[in-house]
Order: sequence, then C-alpha cells, then structure tokens
Amino acid sequence: MKNFDDKQEQSLVIVKPDGVQRSLIGEIIKRYEQCGLKLVAIKIIVPSRDLALKHYSVDPEWSLKTGTKSIEAAKARERKLFSEDPLIVAEKIKKTLVNYLSSGPVVPMVWQGMGAVAIIRKITGGTEPLTSAPGTIRGDFTIDSYPASDLDNRSVRNIIHASGSIGEAKNEIPLWFDKKEIISYRLISEAIIYDVNLDGILE
Ligand code: CDP
Ligand code: MG
Repeated sequence: MKNFDDKQEQSLVIVKPDGVQRSLIGEIIKRYEQCGLKLVAIKIIVPSRDLALKHYSVDPEWSLKTGTKSIEAAKARERKLFSEDPLIVAEKIKKTLVNYLSSGPVVPMVWQGMGAVAIIRKITGGTEPLTSAPGTIRGDFTIDSYPASDLDNRSVRNIIHASGSIGEAKNEIPLWFDKKEIISYRLISEAIIYDVNLDGILE
C-alpha cells in the first residue's frame, strides 16, 4: 500500500442533487467528520452541464473502468446490456450523468487526512445502493439499482460522488474549487490522531 501516511491527502466529495433533496447534507458531513478527516472546502452550487461533463472526463481511464464495471455487474445477474463495449456503455452513462448532476443544487467539498480517498470510499459504499454495504452512506440512505435506472434510462441515484483514486481527486478538485477556497488550518484533534506521543493530555 502506497501513500497511506500522507496526512495532506485530499478527496473530493459531492452531495449529488438527490442527496440535497433528501435533506442528507448534515448526515453526510457528520459521517466524514466523525471519522477524523478535516473539511477544508465546501460550497453549494448548481453545476453547469459543461462542469458536469468535465467532471466525468478528467480521468482518461474513467470510461473504461465504469463501462467494464457495469458490464460485469449485468453479467453477474444474467442481464444483457445494450452493448458489450465498455466505452459505448460508459458514453451512455456519461450522458445521463450530466443530466443528473446538473439537475439542481449540489454540495461539493474537499476532505483531507491520512488515506482520505480510501477512507471516504469505504464510508460512502459501493456505486449501486442495492448492493452497497449496510452502514455505508449509499447502503443506508437510498435504494436505487442498475436494473431500475437502466429501465428508466437514467443514472443510478446514489446520493454522493467520491473520488475513486488519489489521481482522480487531484484532477477533479481544481474543477470545483479555486486554490484560495481550500483552507489550510490545524484541527486540535489532529494531535490525537497523528502525533507520535499522546503527551500534553494530563495536567
Ligand atoms: O460514483 P462511483 O465512483 O462509485 O462510480 P463510477 O463508476 O465512477 O460512476 C459514476 C456514477 O455514474 C455513479 O455514481 C452512478 O451515479 C453512475 N452510474 C450509472 O448510472 N450506471 C452505471 N452502470 C454506473 C455508474
Ligand atoms: Mg467514480
């Protein structure tokens, strides 16, 4: 495992339009905050279609990964998708995603801390709410599935976007935040989480 000691690691989280409409902003922030990560940027905006498209285009591998994942999920349930080509599948997903993400207010935020990307993926849960683990945000707060979304020709509504890798986070964050909107500060709790010695507790 690489980079798991980088205390400055950052991940982009976006509460998607369904998460905002379900009044889950506070609950979502609570879950990332209580695990020990630090919130360094946050705002509420209605993304343009252009921004939504850029967001899913910055990672050159996203289409292949997402297309392959979707085809495999369909195969595992003996469902047939309209194409066996991951890039064609991903292109269709991207079109519905642009509608989804730009349909209303969203809350982008940047969380920072050791292993931030992996910790956030764990707390967020798998892409499809039907199969994301209980205890995760997607597992606990919504019920959508690939078959349901395919039937209606729309995106899987899963409340949250969370960076899939450190590289993805590095590419995505500048799309949503200017450098000056990301705050560099110290949290008192970091001493308990990161310091080698827990000295300074006892008087
Ligand atoms: O969001 P996550 O990183 O878990 O998944 P992704 O593979 O990067 O896909 C991005 C988003 O596309 C998902 O969060 C879903 O909203 C949507 N998606 C979909 O509607 N249908 C699929 N078969 C795969 C993804
Ligand atoms: Mg992703």
